[in-house]
Amino acid sequence: TMAELRDAVRQCTQQEIHRAECPSIGFVPTMGFLHEGHASLMKEAKKQCGIVVLSIFVNPIQFGPNEDLEQYPRDEAHDLAMAEQNGVDIVFLPTAELMYPEPTKTMVQVQGVTAPLCGASRPGHFDGVTTVVAKLFNLVKPDKAFFGMKDAQQVAVIQQMVKDLNFDVEIVPCPIVREGDGLALSSRNIYLSAEEREQALVLSRTLRQVEAWLEQRPDMTAPQLRDNIIKSIQEAPLADIDYVEVMQFPSLEALSPEQALANTDHRVLIALAVRFGRTRLIDNRLLENK
Ligand code: PAJ
Repeated sequence: TMAELRDAVRQCTQQEIHRAECPSIGFVPTMGFLHEGHASLMKEAKKQCGIVVLSIFVNPIQFGPNEDLEQYPRDEAHDLAMAEQNGVDIVFLPTAELMYPEPTKTMVQVQGVTAPLCGASRPGHFDGVTTVVAKLFNLVKPDKAFFGMKDAQQVAVIQQMVKDLNFDVEIVPCPIVREGDGLALSSRNIYLSAEEREQALVLSRTLRQVEAWLEQRPDMTAPQLRDNIIKSIQEAPLADIDYVEVMQFPSLEALSPEQALANTDHRVLIALAVRFGRTRLIDNRLLENK
């Protein structure tokens, strides 16, 4: 319950106060079915903060009507073991009834950065994300919150919300964790058949190739890079592209279509969402310019 969470945070703070003057609270929000990507966030939180709070909540309001809310994978015992192994102090596992005792009449809606990419293909998704993350921030009151760059747009959206609503929390983006063969870890990877999983490697392979393409063609623009990426992904017969975009990060505004990417002052995000069978995968790469 919320009261138990508050008491647990208070207790941990009192215990930690012996070791640190002012123990900071690190927070890792998740939807569970934890893997090494989530573990990397817990480890980073433990490194930076005295107390680590993990939340596991499959947030119904961020799923669309035809999405996988009911089938979303769950494994509480495995999640709790993983939390313990990675130094988490408190796990908050609220029920949907606890978080939404009645349909929420207040939503947090970020404009602009929510419009393209997953915001366009999953209408209302980010309103559900920002609303639940705002609720969780108010409950946990973290000093720092850790988010994976696997969901680069989510990072941009949360950072915008924190800035606009003056949340007193530092957002710490953490790098994408991948399988040995390149596939970005995701709770949804278990939906993939062997053949789909094999073909899904085209995403990370294509993102790795980007640098070589830009070196070969220093005049390459964002639309040209996007075309190359689309062609490369289409070589996998099972790949059904939802979107491929090359944009500024973190504003998620368009890049000038004529300017060579090599000459831009912006950080460039290459983001893609591709279906393999019934599974929609996302992956991305951030090019740090200058
Ligand atoms: P979920 O998909 O469970 O992801 C929780 C966190 O783990 C997110 O910050 C996500 O970016 C990060 N993550 C997932 N896969 C990763 C990988 N391969 N490498 C690094 N980080 C990875 O994102 C959500 O849940 C929800 O939208 C949530 C923020 C919890 C709100 O409901």
